[in-house]
Amino acid sequence: VADNVENLVPRPPVVTIMGHVDHGKTSLLDAIRKTSVVSGEAGGITQHIGAYQVEQGGQKITFIDTPGHAAFTAMRARGAQATDIAILVVAADDSVMPQTIESINHAKSAGVPIIVAINKIDKPGADASKVRNALLQHEVFVESMGGEVLDVEVSALKGTNLDKLLDAILLQSEILELKADPTRTAEGVVIEAQLDKGRGPVATVLVQTGTLKIGDIVVAGDEWGRVRALITDKGAQLKEALPSMPVEVLGMQGTPLAGDRFAVVESESKAREIAEYRQRVAREKQVAKSAG
Ligand code: GTP
Ligand code: NA
Ligand code: MG
Repeated sequence: VADNVENLVPRPPVVTIMGHVDHGKTSLLDAIRKTSVVSGEAGGITQHIGAYQVEQGGQKITFIDTPGHAAFTAMRARGAQATDIAILVVAADDSVMPQTIESINHAKSAGVPIIVAINKIDKPGADASKVRNALLQHEVFVESMGGEVLDVEVSALKGTNLDKLLDAILLQSEILELKADPTRTAEGVVIEAQLDKGRGPVATVLVQTGTLKIGDIVVAGDEWGRVRALITDKGAQLKEALPSMPVEVLGMQGTPLAGDRFAVVESESKAREIAEYRQRVAREKQVAKSAG
């Protein structure tokens, strides 16, 4: 099944946060989530599901909450391109550091546009111009330097300019003209999965195209299942999940791996067949490997 061009509609951007150790990736994600929870999601209990969605001026943005570029790399290694936009966090008191450069290279080789968040501008030693100049040397040309890369000075600690950052994401997203076909069967990528004592296997997936529904039969990597429940990052139960939506899927027979692709198939027997075939291939690879 492929997207039907006639059914393509705009979808929210999927954003990952990257950057050097301690430059404030987690703080920024937390600050954005907190702001949006306070402003629009009253009553919602925020859970950690590895990804979340916020709204800015009625438009949605999906954040994948991965620990930096390690998960980004793992996903890419599995062939899963999950990210539309990379937020490069650079601390204004520390400027460009080795993992900043690594992050730039990762984003560039994945063809993912960068938005620079110059963080910690509340600190006495903050120097945003120094950051912009340092980025120049790594071929990241921000707007004020005559380039096209959007940059926003923020403070995750004080909550400064988070709106500006979200607006920059929406602007970049518009340029990318992100679209998906919600009328087709769902496909996407597994963000994380674990075995929950009470609920069984729980897979957090990102729906990339199509609509994932309760009762759908899915194959994810070498696991399969029938969707029993769909739960948002706010703990809400859904009947269906639309493109760019991160959602917890209950009903898998086992736990797939982060970065595994998932797709809806037509029958349980088909799902079983695909999963068993992949498990057999994986086992044979394992045997071949241990045989030397
Ligand atoms: P790793 O995941 O370990 O790479 O770190 P990180 O990039 O997620 O950074 P984290 O959010 O853990 O922040 C590192 C430290 O910087 C913490 O002590 C934060 O409180 C502090 N910090 C983060 N953002 C800001 C900011 O805007 N201003 C100030 N003053 N401190 C900040
Ligand atoms: Na840290
Ligand atoms: Mg962190």
